[in-house]
Amino acid sequence: MRRAMVAGNWKMHGTRASVCELTGALAVQDLPANVDVAVFPPSLFIGQVVEALAGKSIAIGGQNCATQVEQGALTGEIASSQLVDAGCELVLVGHSERRLILGESDQVVAQKFAAAQLAGLVPILCVGETLEQREAGETLQVIARQLAVVIRVSGVAAIAKAVVAYEPVWAIGTGLTATPEQAQEVHQAIRRQLAAEDAEVAQATRILYGGSVKAANAADLFGMPDIDGGLIGGASLNANEFGAICRAAGS
Ligand code: PGA
Repeated sequence: MRRAMVAGNWKMHGTRASVCELTGALAVQDLPANVDVAVFPPSLFIGQVVEALAGKSIAIGGQNCATQVEQGALTGEIASSQLVDAGCELVLVGHSERRLILGESDQVVAQKFAAAQLAGLVPILCVGETLEQREAGETLQVIARQLAVVIRVSGVAAIAKAVVAYEPVWAIGTGLTATPEQAQEVHQAIRRQLAAEDAEVAQATRILYGGSVKAANAADLFGMPDIDGGLIGGASLNANEFGAICRAAGS
């Protein structure tokens, strides 16, 4: 049985004061013991969040890492080993905002994935199609390509030690959620692609859904057989809402 996971991506939100408030409210949430819960603050606040959530069963992750593992001369970047040193256990790689707005290629994403694992982090590999690609009937092809590049660089066994997040770009921050059936179709295709290489990896890999998940739609999404939890953006900035999503994943 795969353990459910709910991950909160805070994106570029927060001030020291608002982060203090959010972590305070998260710390008193009733979180289910059968769900892995993680939050991904802006890197500026990682230290603050690690301290504020010490002793709580909430893991902390980075939103991005460099393609190289070790620290070095790379202005503005953060090495995966530095995230580990700061107290992170996970890192997002290939979020669509980085792919589309900041121009990260499949190749760069695959290098970041590898760098994350080399440092001992669990990468959450984000994949997803744009609205144009969906309307052109290219959804499954796009996702297969995004996943294939990572498999080519790191090998299929590496996927079982990571997490995959399917996030249709058209559903991110738009209030438009994929229906549970639309999401399940893609999740199943991802699992089939993995199974074609290694059946055990396919069974073991957690595949999260992301894109306008809220407490009100979480249970239906998480009820699908290949959806193992969620990657939550906007709703993760509200501790009560996030807590409710975590509880939906646990039931
Ligand atoms: P959203 O973002 O929940 O605000 O749609 C999800 C994400 O981008 O990870």
